[in-house]
Amino acid sequence: MGLTRSDVMIAVGGGVIGDITGFAASTYMRGIDYIQVPTTLLSMVDSSVGGKTAIDMKDAKNIVGTFYQPKAVFININFLKTLDKKQFSSGLGEILKYAFIEESCGYEQSLFLFEYLTLCCEKMFEKEAMTLMRIIEYCLKLKISIVNQDEKENDLRRVLNLGHTLAHALETKGRYKTYTHGEAVIQGIFFVLDWAHKNDLISYSYCRLSCELLTKYGFHKEDISNKYKPEELVELMKKDKKSLRDKIRFIVPCDKKKVKEVQLTQEETLAMF
Ligand code: GLY
Repeated sequence: MGLTRSDVMIAVGGGVIGDITGFAASTYMRGIDYIQVPTTLLSMVDSSVGGKTAIDMKDAKNIVGTFYQPKAVFININFLKTLDKKQFSSGLGEILKYAFIEESCGYEQSLFLFEYLTLCCEKMFEKEAMTLMRIIEYCLKLKISIVNQDEKENDLRRVLNLGHTLAHALETKGRYKTYTHGEAVIQGIFFVLDWAHKNDLISYSYCRLSCELLTKYGFHKEDISNKYKPEELVELMKKDKKSLRDKIRFIVPCDKKKVKEVQLTQEETLAMF
């Protein structure tokens, strides 16, 4: 298109469009400006904000990419009117994630997202404008708080990866077709909730309330080890860019609305299934 260094790329679309545009903008001529106009719920609450840009490769998700902030992000919820059920639900997956990490985001005040999401479920499914706007705003307040403190994911930003260790393996295993990102993240959250409860990090009642919240939004825990070989999933987790040389990183619930990182060996990870 003959773009010059003073031109700007505008990503109008979901997470894939945003990530590809951001990646192209960050590398073309060593970097030109770009703007995000997210049109899916998932990209509105997560991928359009925070400057992660990436592309997937056959064996690992988001493995090639950069941190490169957009000059602006414009969100208009009217785009959501045409979003199909599956993609809307994928966005809900990322939204629900914030309910479990709120107290670990270092945000100055309590937003009571867990409680609010419990109460406003029907309004969310009706795509009621005020509810949508409030929820998107709350998620972004939490995300911006995190990114402002740790842009390059050295530490705090990792809390946003709740559910993502298993999710990325599931998405890769399903060749990015079986699960939407949000669906995979929710399976990942069920997985670590279960583990956290079994390891006495969270109470039975919090674990149950959390699973009920996910179920309320139409998500159900799958028997993952029946569907895929745990060994194969663990192999994929090892390839994830978040893994260490010999340990696999998980963000796990450790209290109400709080999470922490645990690093597990391959054997310990297999024992989670
Ligand atoms: N989607 C997780 C992050 O932006 O860090």
